[in-house]
Amino acid sequence: MPCVAIVGAQFGDEGKGKVVDYYSKDADVVIRFQGGCNAGHTVVVDGNEFKFHLVPSGAIYQKKLIIGNGAVLDLETLTNEIEEVKSKFKKIDLLISDRAHVTLPFHKILDGAEESIRSCKVGTTKRGIGPTYSDKIARFGIRIVDLLDKNLLNEKLDAIIPQKNSILRYVCKSDDSLTKDEILEYCLKYAEKIKPYIGDASIEINRAIKEGKNVLFEGAQGTLLDVDQGTYPFVTSSNTTAGGACVGSGVGPKVIDKVIGVIKAYITRVGEGPMPTELNDSIGELLKKKGNEFGATTGRPRRCGWLDGVALRFAVRVNGLDGLIVTKLDVLGGLNEIKICTSYEYSGKEINEFPASLKILEKATPVYETLSGWPDLSKEEYKEIADKGYYALPKEMRNYLKRIEEIAGIPIYLVSFGQDREATISLREIF
Ligand code: GDP
Ligand code: IMO
Ligand code: MG
Repeated sequence: MPCVAIVGAQFGDEGKGKVVDYYSKDADVVIRFQGGCNAGHTVVVDGNEFKFHLVPSGAIYQKKLIIGNGAVLDLETLTNEIEEVKSKFKKIDLLISDRAHVTLPFHKILDGAEESIRSCKVGTTKRGIGPTYSDKIARFGIRIVDLLDKNLLNEKLDAIIPQKNSILRYVCKSDDSLTKDEILEYCLKYAEKIKPYIGDASIEINRAIKEGKNVLFEGAQGTLLDVDQGTYPFVTSSNTTAGGACVGSGVGPKVIDKVIGVIKAYITRVGEGPMPTELNDSIGELLKKKGNEFGATTGRPRRCGWLDGVALRFAVRVNGLDGLIVTKLDVLGGLNEIKICTSYEYSGKEINEFPASLKILEKATPVYETLSGWPDLSKEEYKEIADKGYYALPKEMRNYLKRIEEIAGIPIYLVSFGQDREATISLREIF
């Protein structure tokens, strides 16, 4: 079973970076297939923290890293991240798809400007993600391959810049305006820097799969932020669900052997949009503080709540999940009682399936099941537990995990109770 997709099964920030780093030990290739530098994937090794925005989290194990066609690339962030990885880990073995789209400085300006004219704000990361994907779908986008052809780039910018300036001026009432020469110069400067890494990612990935290599797909954001499946319009602009791994990297759906979803032991969300199990009370505050729930990209506080079993079952279905990874179990330690939402109640009716209607999601009352909590354990105590294995975890925690498996209808593969690589227990192998 060498080809595995790891996706976020909530609203993002589930701990995908930690998990992908953990599995990268046994992977040959690690691929990012969607999203851009709205993602912030944290990996902690020996107390040192790394935050990846575009480069796949297999960088620390120095694996073959691929950024697929489905990603959108901010050239400055990408270049800085490549340099950082090279300086920290001596080398980088990276391939950037020539079909991936480019986020240009005006996409970031437009992201902010579009938010300012929306009737309901999405609370985007302002990294230009929505405008870049809009241009891609509208067929105005600049692809990585275009950066290698100055004349073509020039022509494309000639067509795009006046259009963007009109939108900025007349629609967004913004004083920002763009000049083609500046943007052309910007593109050419970064093209030179990333040129050695550009190639056909689909060919490489399919070759690795044929050779039986262990291939890991690293999702960004989470299922409930998927542009098709999520809480639209409070979503990101890409397909964060498992299907995105295929279209975003140029492989067929039959080659992915296993799909694993990452969840926190509770739930968080950054930005606006419905979140039925949100806790606006002292427990919500405690989770935020203890879980250090502040965005890895923007530093914004994350909204916190109990685990949502309705959303979890939805994530199992729309991703075709085979298994789960549960992170941040340590954060719940010390609570007398822990709740899981098993259904919603709306207008006197029980709702078991995650609804499309935002009105229902906003007004739905979660129906909770209450389980016993477990003690607050120190890092040292968790370290001893990690050495001993799963059955050394507190009984109440194992009961909680068992209930999650029952609600989701799929088994747990890995549990995490700390930021570090070692604060992890594997229950099942993925490769
Ligand atoms: P990602 O976007 O899914 O990769 O997640 P982020 O990196 O944005 O956010 C997850 C945060 O939780 C990071 O700061 C991780 O270091 C941290 N983290 C991951 N797993 C655990 C865990 O089991 N316990 C604790 N306390 N922190 C964790
Ligand atoms: P990782 O990969 C959490 C959220 C934003 C906003 C919405 C749209 O670290 O899990 P965008 O800038 O994408 O147009 O913003 O999506 N969002 C994330 N939330 N984790 C992320 O990535 C996110 N990427 C975007 O907060 O609500
Ligand atoms: Mg994150």
